[in-house]
Amino acid sequence: MGLNSSSRGPLASALLLCFCMLFLGVHGGSRRLYIVYLGDVKHGHPDDVIASHHDLLSNVLGSMEDSMASMIHNYKHGFSGFAAMLTEDQAKQLADFPDVISVQPSRRLKVATTRSWDFLDLNYQMPNDLLNKGRYGEDVIIGVVDTGIWPESRSFSDEGYGPVPSRWRGKCQVGQGWDRNNCSRKIIGARFYTGGKDEEELKKSDYLSPRDAHSHGTHTASTAAGSVVEGASFHGLAAGVARGGAPHARIAVYKIAWRTASGGTTGNDAALLAAMDDAIHDGVDILSLSLQLVENSFGALHMVQKGITVVYAAGNDGPSPQTLGNTSPWVITVAASKIDRSFPTVITLGNKQQIVGQSLYYQGKNSSRSIFRSLVDGGQCTADDLNGTVVKGKIVLCATPNSPTEEGPRAVLREAFQNVREGGGSGLIFVQYTTDILEEFVSMPCVLVDIDTGKKIRKYINAGSSPVAKIEPARSITGKDILAPKVASFSSRGPSPDYADIIKPDIAAPGANILAAMGDSYRLASGTSMATPHVTGIIALLKALHPSWSPAALKSAIVTTASVTDEHGMPILAEGLPRKIADPFDYGGGHINPNRAADPGLIYDIDPNDYNHFFSCTVTKTSASCNETYVPGYFLNLPSISVPNLRYPVSVSRTVTNVGEVDAVYHVAIESPAGVKIEVEPSVLVFNAANKVHTFLVKISPLWRLQGDYTFGSITWYNGEKTVRIPIAARIIIHDFFADVA
Ligand SMILES: *[C@@H]1O[C@H](CO)[C@@H](O)[C@H](O)[C@H]1NC(C)=O
Ligand SMILES: *[C@@H]1O[C@H](CO)[C@@H](O)[C@H](O)[C@H]1NC(C)=O
Ligand SMILES: *[C@@H]1O[C@H](CO)[C@@H](O)[C@H](O)[C@H]1NC(C)=O
Ligand SMILES: *[C@@H]1O[C@H](CO)[C@@H](O)[C@H](O)[C@H]1NC(C)=O
Repeated sequence: MGLNSSSRGPLASALLLCFCMLFLGVHGGSRRLYIVYLGDVKHGHPDDVIASHHDLLSNVLGSMEDSMASMIHNYKHGFSGFAAMLTEDQAKQLADFPDVISVQPSRRLKVATTRSWDFLDLNYQMPNDLLNKGRYGEDVIIGVVDTGIWPESRSFSDEGYGPVPSRWRGKCQVGQGWDRNNCSRKIIGARFYTGGKDEEELKKSDYLSPRDAHSHGTHTASTAAGSVVEGASFHGLAAGVARGGAPHARIAVYKIAWRTASGGTTGNDAALLAAMDDAIHDGVDILSLSLQLVENSFGALHMVQKGITVVYAAGNDGPSPQTLGNTSPWVITVAASKIDRSFPTVITLGNKQQIVGQSLYYQGKNSSRSIFRSLVDGGQCTADDLNGTVVKGKIVLCATPNSPTEEGPRAVLREAFQNVREGGGSGLIFVQYTTDILEEFVSMPCVLVDIDTGKKIRKYINAGSSPVAKIEPARSITGKDILAPKVASFSSRGPSPDYADIIKPDIAAPGANILAAMGDSYRLASGTSMATPHVTGIIALLKALHPSWSPAALKSAIVTTASVTDEHGMPILAEGLPRKIADPFDYGGGHINPNRAADPGLIYDIDPNDYNHFFSCTVTKTSASCNETYVPGYFLNLPSISVPNLRYPVSVSRTVTNVGEVDAVYHVAIESPAGVKIEVEPSVLVFNAANKVHTFLVKISPLWRLQGDYTFGSITWYNGEKTVRIPIAARIIIHDFFADVA
């Protein structure tokens, strides 16, 4: 049996898993999955790369048989390395081999429309917008790394599509509930990766194939690239045309996250890296990852160095600061916003007072009619709070602590819902500082109200002898009556825990109550998972319009043209406790503005090799490729500047390339962060046929002798027609301050 076939076929990998189990039994269970990273591919043919991995591994394990049995995934196209079951000692031994750049344990990861596209002014009736200029993303290939896909959804119809682009080298991997004809001119490739998990176990709650049992991947793929589907809605709510951002783009599916018995997901970065390795081989243009994980960022770095844009979710752990994930400078990190749609739900109290909350409550065929029911105060609706309260058949008022809790408001809501339902309650009114955690609860109405409204209801309950309330089904409304966009409370916030000298997230996009495909129907979902494919779809349109632009240039286009004010010209707000004006740690450059991104005027481009120079030490262990002298990330030509330790004046340069009218004169406008002075030299840039690229110097000096927090500003180049804005963050550090105190 050749090396190649034994590491690939499904039967063979099933056998391998059996070996693993056996091996575990003999050696006492101290093995775990490790990722061994070897850098660029050095041996041409993939078979030779795999053979070299086995040579290396059998040096440590003693025999080729053991090497075969331990190997889980080989990385052989875009970069070299493998995932294997190893003991800690074996991992240490491997790390000492000169070719090995790093050995790290594999880490777990989890998965973190209609109105949203019109809200972004990408309306397919308007001939001049990015959607038309980008030819609906035609022939751009979007890789979606997620829980798989449901090919029968109307969003993935390939009607009217031309042949699969000839450069495509991917495959359609058959499996449970998935055969070759499930790939099409729309879904042009589909693969799945177990990450070494027991296949029998996975099969209990998922399909061992690209088919999506969870529905997260179907939702995200249809948001990025779903075909136009008329008349989609969630039980009549949010009705309209459902479509992806780039409705003619092709989809390549990489399933790495698996549905668990409890309805959650399980996955690891060993599988993610295998998907990235194949995606490079297959020829995707953009990779969309609505995943929450501790990143193992060399995979994304290799992709970006091959010209593939990588778009990642920021995570759903807001509004606390420093909760961001996926923050490497070479990827696009996406925050989530709320758009101008809401779902008002009328609550009528027994005293005829009408109160408006928000819910996704609809009148289903079987749901009970809206009638007055008893209303009780359930406190915080913990199991303890409800012990002794009769909630059966009643509507229960639940209030969360009026301060951020460690689990976040969504978890508190779910627990309250669970407790009320277990007690036989027939409705829940949930008092919250934010309403952007609406969830679809099928079994009973669940209405979110703000704290003032909550107080009114409590006052009514305390005053009456037999308080009652009635909950009507929600309606959906859109338009300028709603202050939008706003950064959603759940959206993870900066500064980046990994790289303080890089501003993250990069951009915000709609991510609250997004209608997209789930199985054969359409459902609403919220999260940075939903925001990410919005950015992916827009990048696909930009890529179709500007095929030669690098990932850094595409990112620059969306960051420098993003909006920082809302539809009323007011600063965009960030939900949280308290609600505040959004800053770059909430939304990076701002809220995405696709039509302006199509024609950004100037771009901040980056030679992808620069990333090695600045960051190899943080990605890999000390090696030839790692520069011992740490060079701060703010020296990269990013469309942002963050100086986290400003003690003495710092000078950084930035280089801009004119991609607009050949003859152009740009002037600078500076908004200095509080306590900081920003000077830009020169302050005028003159572009013409001979001068398409200019470099300018930014001097950032502390003005106040304060041990401060971050303050924010911006540098904007404008030419009367275009504005090209980058955000700036600075934090003054006066070390002497500590000495004085001591
Ligand atoms: C996918 O394949 C299954 C099994 O052959 C088939 O029943 C189903 O109709 C196919 N779906 C599509 C969209 O082709
Ligand atoms: C609705 O009620 C009918 C009859 O009681 C039942 O058969 C069906 O499963 C119910 N549907 C739902 C979605 O609960
Ligand atoms: C409810 O409270 C009673 C009395 O304090 C206690 O004995 C009982 O265990 C509690 N039940 C639950 C489910 O906590
Ligand atoms: C390491 O960084 C220093 C400082 O910027 C630079 O001069 C040097 O060339 C770098 N070395 C390598 C190997 O990249």
